[in-house]
Amino acid sequence: MKKLHTPLLDRLKEHYDRQVFSFHVPGHKYGELWSDKMLKKDLLHLDATELSGLDDLHDPSGVIKEAQDQTARFYQADRSYFLVNGTTVGNLAMILATCRKGSIVLVQRNCHKSIMNAIRLAEARPVFLTPEVDASTGVTTGVTLESVEEAFKLYDAIDAVVLTNPNYYGMTQDLTSIIAYAHEQECPVVVDEAHGAHFGIGSPFPPSSLSMGADVVVQSAHKTLPAMTMASFLHFKSSLVDPLDLEDKLQLLQSSSPSYVLMASLDYARGYLESLEPRDIEQIISSINELKDRLKIVPQIEVVQASNGCAYHDPLKLVMQSRTKLSGYELQKVLEQIGIYTELADPFNVLFVLPLSRLEKIDHLVKLIKETLASYEVVNDRLPMHVNYKLPAVAEIDLKKSSQQEQKKVLLTDAVGKVSAETIIPYPPGIPILLKGERITKDHIEYCSFLIEQKARFQGNQPDQEIAIFL
Ligand SMILES: Cc1ncc(COP(=O)(O)O)c(C=O)c1O
Repeated sequence: MKKLHTPLLDRLKEHYDRQVFSFHVPGHKYGELWSDKMLKKDLLHLDATELSGLDDLHDPSGVIKEAQDQTARFYQADRSYFLVNGTTVGNLAMILATCRKGSIVLVQRNCHKSIMNAIRLAEARPVFLTPEVDASTGVTTGVTLESVEEAFKLYDAIDAVVLTNPNYYGMTQDLTSIIAYAHEQECPVVVDEAHGAHFGIGSPFPPSSLSMGADVVVQSAHKTLPAMTMASFLHFKSSLVDPLDLEDKLQLLQSSSPSYVLMASLDYARGYLESLEPRDIEQIISSINELKDRLKIVPQIEVVQASNGCAYHDPLKLVMQSRTKLSGYELQKVLEQIGIYTELADPFNVLFVLPLSRLEKIDHLVKLIKETLASYEVVNDRLPMHVNYKLPAVAEIDLKKSSQQEQKKVLLTDAVGKVSAETIIPYPPGIPILLKGERITKDHIEYCSFLIEQKARFQGNQPDQEIAIFL
């Protein structure tokens, strides 16, 4: 690995080493007030504030500017910004910077709830594009160029196209033609790339959305890079979006006391990525391949790849399916009992997020899984793959329906044709399957009932046999 160059992190360490008197926020005084050694040790030493020499995220001209410039150079963006409230805040900012009240915005339907919230805040008119479904896992992926073209024919003035790439499971599309088409219509394309902060480091990792021409891209550095939770990047490269408007939205939405620990972890994450040499990437990939190969000796499970419809499958995402009567949720629970905690489960799959470093203890891991699953019978008649619910390719939904409007609860089976007064979000992955204001179809109800039966976890309202509808 190359030597790390991390200007912000280095300056913070130097600052702490000077053992200054702290008569400023934060109140823990570089950890002095903490008796818990684990957090105090080193971490709180970096938790400084906008002191001389430490710059200001909202008006950067010193080390934060330098660290952000390094990030932009590495990701080949015109500008990059550090985010301290996750990709959530980046999604809010990029949509508020591209949409106004009444703007028509094309949105990939399987997007994160922060996208829906941004559209509500902007009071824009969302037109949803239904994504494709991956045949081997049953999960939704990306949208087609045809559906984007169809929407541009149906609606005159579209202010933005909002895509999510990759999906949670690391399945990634080639966005080049969609972005080129939208740009021909002078429409910016903004991408939630929460799960792709490591993209662009070279094959077999997928290319980044920015390299495929996207105008604004947001990445959760904390998901796949060594950054702390809530630390994300926003990259800008556009002649269609005003960077000053974007910066205005970021200062509007982000804390005026952004965490230096989070920002330093972003500096470190970019430095880490940049320090990886081709040899390191080869070693990471060969250890992932070794794990996948070794797991083949366990007949009760299968590691699945995205089917052909997907351009790339991120090597850091390992999707495991049970070949027993266990559902994805049940398999996840069994793994937890032996100390293997995974990112998420759905009715069919368990998702592992692998580290961006050479995997250790492969033998031990495989042995543990093999021994634990040995007592489960391998079956052929597995749960039928429920290929999600069907939706129109292009659809407009009124997200403005207010909670004050009269509503009542009805049985799920009586809800078809009514307008939902609640948003139903299985969590993880946090992607709404039914939106408040959306007309309920038979497919929605069948899919919800299926998830309830599979004991899926939902965020907020846990749907049971009833659902709230608007009168
Ligand atoms: C696709 C997608 N976008 C956005 C987010 C929100 O990201 P963050 O947790 O960084 O705010 C998530 C979180 O899981 C996500 O999966």
